[in-house]
Amino acid sequence: MAQYTRVSGSVGLITLQSPPVNALSAAVRQGIVDSMQRALSEPEVKSVVICGQNGIFSGGADIKEFGGQMSGPPLIPMIHAIEAASKPVVAAIEGIALGGGLELALGCHYRIAHSKARVGLPEVTLGLLPGAGGSQRLPRLIGVPAALDLITTGRYVTAAEALKFGLVDQITDHNTVNVAVKFAQRVAGQPLDARRISTYPCLCPPDVDVLFEEVMQRVRRTARGAIAPIACVQAVRAAATLPYNQGMERERELMATLFTSGQTRALQYFFFAQRAVGRWSMPSGARWDTSKPRPVHKAAVIGLGTMGRGITVALAQAGFSVVAVETQEKQLMEAKQAISGMLERGAKRRGVAPALDKINYGCNIQSVADVDLVIEAVFEDMALKKKVFQQLSAVCKAGTFLCSNTSGLDIDQLACQTRNPELVVGMHFFAPAHVMKLLEVVYGPKSSPLAVATAMQLGKKIGKVSVAVGNCRGFVGNRMLKPYLEQALFLLEEGATPEFVDQVLEEFGFAMGVFRMSDLSGLDVGWKVRMADGLVVPNSTTGQATRLRQGRRYSPLGDLLCEQGRFGQKTGRGWYQYNKPGSQVAKPDPWLHSFLDEYRARHTLVARRIDHQEVLERCLYSMINEGFRILEDGIAAGPEDIDIIYVFGYSWPRHRGGPMFYATTVGLNKVLERLEHYHQAHPDVPSLQPCDLLRKLVASGSPPIQKWREVIKKVRSQL
Ligand code: CAA
Ligand code: NAI
Repeated sequence: MAQYTRVSGSVGLITLQSPPVNALSAAVRQGIVDSMQRALSEPEVKSVVICGQNGIFSGGADIKEFGGQMSGPPLIPMIHAIEAASKPVVAAIEGIALGGGLELALGCHYRIAHSKARVGLPEVTLGLLPGAGGSQRLPRLIGVPAALDLITTGRYVTAAEALKFGLVDQITDHNTVNVAVKFAQRVAGQPLDARRISTYPCLCPPDVDVLFEEVMQRVRRTARGAIAPIACVQAVRAAATLPYNQGMERERELMATLFTSGQTRALQYFFFAQRAVGRWSMPSGARWDTSKPRPVHKAAVIGLGTMGRGITVALAQAGFSVVAVETQEKQLMEAKQAISGMLERGAKRRGVAPALDKINYGCNIQSVADVDLVIEAVFEDMALKKKVFQQLSAVCKAGTFLCSNTSGLDIDQLACQTRNPELVVGMHFFAPAHVMKLLEVVYGPKSSPLAVATAMQLGKKIGKVSVAVGNCRGFVGNRMLKPYLEQALFLLEEGATPEFVDQVLEEFGFAMGVFRMSDLSGLDVGWKVRMADGLVVPNSTTGQATRLRQGRRYSPLGDLLCEQGRFGQKTGRGWYQYNKPGSQVAKPDPWLHSFLDEYRARHTLVARRIDHQEVLERCLYSMINEGFRILEDGIAAGPEDIDIIYVFGYSWPRHRGGPMFYATTVGLNKVLERLEHYHQAHPDVPSLQPCDLLRKLVASGSPPIQKWREVIKKVRSQL
């Protein structure tokens, strides 16, 4: 709702009241309409101020109302009525003015912002465009290039940047509402014609067509199939080329298309999923709201290779003191130089001083004695990691949390090496660790809620989206990657090429197809793991056993490439060829094609034509099937956890909501039916066998994803 009061004798003050972010729900919109009518009808009132309670202007439209029956006064006429008002209306912006909140402020005649406020039009991140006149007013106010930037990226800007753009008229360090009320008194009675943004001409640079063409090309390239960014460009183009009323009509048409696209539903689901993962729980019943974290002031990182360097940078940039440990002076100095460079580049980008003095380097593990938390990032070798955990347990002060960045080894085995296994958790970062947003916090059977809460809070402080997951081989992300990679290899055996498989996956929206991604990560990484698991049989070229391991179909293709020293980008050869080692430009490799032909001939495999649909279904449905198994096993608490992990850690296209949400858009019965079909064709591939939970969900009528947890609970209680 909105509260109306008269202040300083002549100013009508409208306060939006809808905690926590004063979203513009039906009740709030009704409150604004009623309050405006009162303010305009009271003769004593000469001007109006609109503000939000609790230091927040507005977080925009109420996202929970999307998809439901529309009720209450619509936003567009409400904003038009404010703009057309005969008395000046001033927006007093504190905290945030986002989406519909900023559009409301753009309908006001003046905007005053607190210096700490942030404003933006993030609709694009929800699969929409600023459809309450924002796409038409913003370019008229701040010009086409700046409006294109804000609307197509959805980025928030600070009050200072907003002032520079001319988006707000004044900023203040004082009480914004008081300043706005005084301002409103001053402008009372002044003519308003020049203050109505919808009447402004849209100022365009002379080469506006070129600008739109360039922006459209860039947006198409980065959108990876998302349609909202493209609609945003089209809407701004309408502002630049059409009169306001026609522009509004175009905005309405584009918005209607977006609303029915399905992408917006996926992105709204994703918005709430991001918040849901913060409310973690463990099978023991421990929860986010009953488990208090312990503050961490000083941390240590053991092993300063690819991951340790990124983790050290992330910690130092967030203000933590870090002890960074390597084995030998040479590695230490190389790491120090690399970390300093990363910190300097990051600081330059953000316009701050590099946090070089936050880090103490050393080769002696004793130097971590007084830290609150350690993150181990040595080689992926269980024996080595066990030794490091024994040392840490002996050296660290009582109560130090011991965390491992392992990509998939058993956290419990590491915990068993220590005096206090309850203080051990996995903190699985993703490369590059100072950039990638995802952190899997892995709890073993002995991990305490305190340790999980502390790791989750640390993740938040260093800007990560942290997801608590259970302990199993590969945790959530890498466990689901296994069947996906496996299917991709089988498809090569059956006649596909790496380029074709990658093209299908990239058209689906992945930033990189599975083979380009494997070349980037290094083919030797998986090879070493398979060797440790006893799956690699060196120099085995023929015979039935070559393509079978432990009774299951196995493709040795990756092993054969590694035996030839083809480790991917780093060696200049992998599934693709590269101009030189380290180059990122992947080119099809004729050698690889002949190698595949020879391989098929050797194993009497007949290449067949494989279509887009089969690539997508086999790669994605096998991965989704594993996701259902993970839910069944209780490794992830809900489908949201899996979807967040896949979008933030594995470049799953956000506008498709994540693999589990995607399954709902395909239809669970269809996923089940296709898995059954492929499993029948490949009975020696267990990952294609539909899992029980998927069958049960289909049997119970494929309930909406928000209801899955109830079915999962039932399935688990029957186990
Ligand atoms: N509608 C409904 N609920 C919202 C909301 C919104 N616009 N914005 C935030 N919330 C809810 C969150 O779901 C969360 O609820 P729970 O506590 O139940 O999880 C609660 O408010 C607090 O949100 P955060 O946890 O995100 O709090 P924060 O302080 O970290 O961030 C924020 C606050 C910056 C406003 C962030 O929530 C945000 O970015 N919100 C979305 C803003 C947005 O995209 N607005 C545009 C809406 S679309 C629109 O406006 C289109 C139109 O008019 C036509
Ligand atoms: P890396 O090989 O780049 O670095 C490991 C570093 O640990 C080396 O610099 C080595 O000198 C150092 N080291 C070895 N023993 C040590 C000891 N006893 N004390 C101190 N330092 C020691 O390895 P990378 O890629 O950084 O991986 C580290 C861990 O992170 C592994 O467990 C890996 O599985 C995991 N991981 C790796 C990812 C990646 O993409 N590279 C992603 C996520 C996790």
